[in-house]
Amino acid sequence: MYRSRPKGRMDDDMLAFLSSIPHDQSILYYDIVGSEAHSVMLHERGIISLEELKKILVSLEEAKKSPGLVDTEGAEDIHEALEAFVIKQAGMGAGGKMHTARSRNDQVVLDMRMKVRDDINGLCASIIALIDSLIKQASKNRDAVMPLYTHMQQGQLGTFSHVLLAYADALFRDLERLYQCFGRINQSPLGACAIGGTSIDIDRKRTAVLLGFDGLVRNSVDATTSRDTFVEYVASLSILSTTLARMAEDMIIWSTAEFGFVELDDRYSSTSSAMPQKKNPDPLELVRAKSAIMAGRLVSMLGITKALPSGYSRDLQDLKPQLLEASSAAISTVQVVEDVIDTLQVRKKRMLEVSKTSYAVSLDIAELLVAKGLPFRNAHKIVGALVAKAAAKEASLSAITIKDAAAVLKKVKPEKKLGAVELARIVKGMTPAKSIALRKSVGSPNPKEQDEMIKMARLKLAGYKAGVGKRTKFVQGSLTNLAKTVDKYIHS
Ligand code: ARG
Repeated sequence: MYRSRPKGRMDDDMLAFLSSIPHDQSILYYDIVGSEAHSVMLHERGIISLEELKKILVSLEEAKKSPGLVDTEGAEDIHEALEAFVIKQAGMGAGGKMHTARSRNDQVVLDMRMKVRDDINGLCASIIALIDSLIKQASKNRDAVMPLYTHMQQGQLGTFSHVLLAYADALFRDLERLYQCFGRINQSPLGACAIGGTSIDIDRKRTAVLLGFDGLVRNSVDATTSRDTFVEYVASLSILSTTLARMAEDMIIWSTAEFGFVELDDRYSSTSSAMPQKKNPDPLELVRAKSAIMAGRLVSMLGITKALPSGYSRDLQDLKPQLLEASSAAISTVQVVEDVIDTLQVRKKRMLEVSKTSYAVSLDIAELLVAKGLPFRNAHKIVGALVAKAAAKEASLSAITIKDAAAVLKKVKPEKKLGAVELARIVKGMTPAKSIALRKSVGSPNPKEQDEMIKMARLKLAGYKAGVGKRTKFVQGSLTNLAKTVDKYIHS
């Protein structure tokens, strides 16, 4: 349809190579509503007549109701296919005017912006639901004492709720990145035309309002060239994926028989074709893999956009599959993680058992010695030596005797006097519950701190919920109003 200068048909293989049709189905809806808004504006500015507008709108509504009618055979992309459909239905006299003061260059980026803003709103809602699940699990597990690990070795004791709330905080930042990205995405490029605007008296603000945009990408070169907001979106998804992959990795490790801290619900576990005992965390393993693929998408997008000249180049078309797949992978991944968290069985008893025999109370003991006036370096030495003694016996710190304590004190010779009986008493008295209760610093696993964190997270979540709800409603409301305007013109 576009071939005014080149003679004849394009080579079939070349067309297949060039075509974006396989990925364009998911932007067809946006191409239709974008075309409706553009046509309404053309009429309101006196550029096309009411009769012409009606014919165009009737055809576009038909395409909206039955997208299968839009024949993509032989078309380079969905923009060409839709325009050809409108011309076929409305006739060249009316349909041939739809592309006035417009180009596929502003059209494709318009469609992608509308698609991504919907995806952002959907994703924000899913992340909110996931954070909500984490908060609910956290409130049920404030008393689930477990070791916290550094280098995958037991470090200090904490609570399961503490870890869940750490995920929630990371997800809040992921949410915030997407929430802010929406503001940059929801700007209309429509009317920038091919690259340099138009001599025709269009109203860019009107189409922006009709389509629910917050403003314009004003500069026509910027509007048709720039893809930074899409790259930013996938970068945010990439970072989100690393948060989700970390959660997945923790759950995979903690669901092993060796740890036994959590158990996945049967509905979210797979098994083995050979080993009947198996309960495998395959969904979480895929969450891990998806994070690598997401990073690959981001690198592809950066590579495609790097050093492209200003103005549309066909390279930009290859961003679309990356973008669309990034969205759908992120949406399903967040959902999977939410389901797993929602139904997770927490083995508090096992966590406590492991905590009771853990050396992860060492720092708490050292801090008690500091409270007795010992320099921290002395305390570190003493407790380290006691742990070495216990480890030699393959026992926990409760196996430390007064004799052990006396031997260590003799070797370390602390700056401040400390009796062996007292040292042994301090070591034996350090229970998991005490270890948690003693740590009162802001952000520590102390139950009061957990309560405070849960309270703050709930407040923050409510704010985002309201914000995302408002945005979603605004976009939907604008498109409902556009549909009413279209209906009004069709029946006028
Ligand atoms: N199918 C193209 C894409 O997805 C649409 C824009 C084509 N524009 C052009 N001047 N060739 O990016």
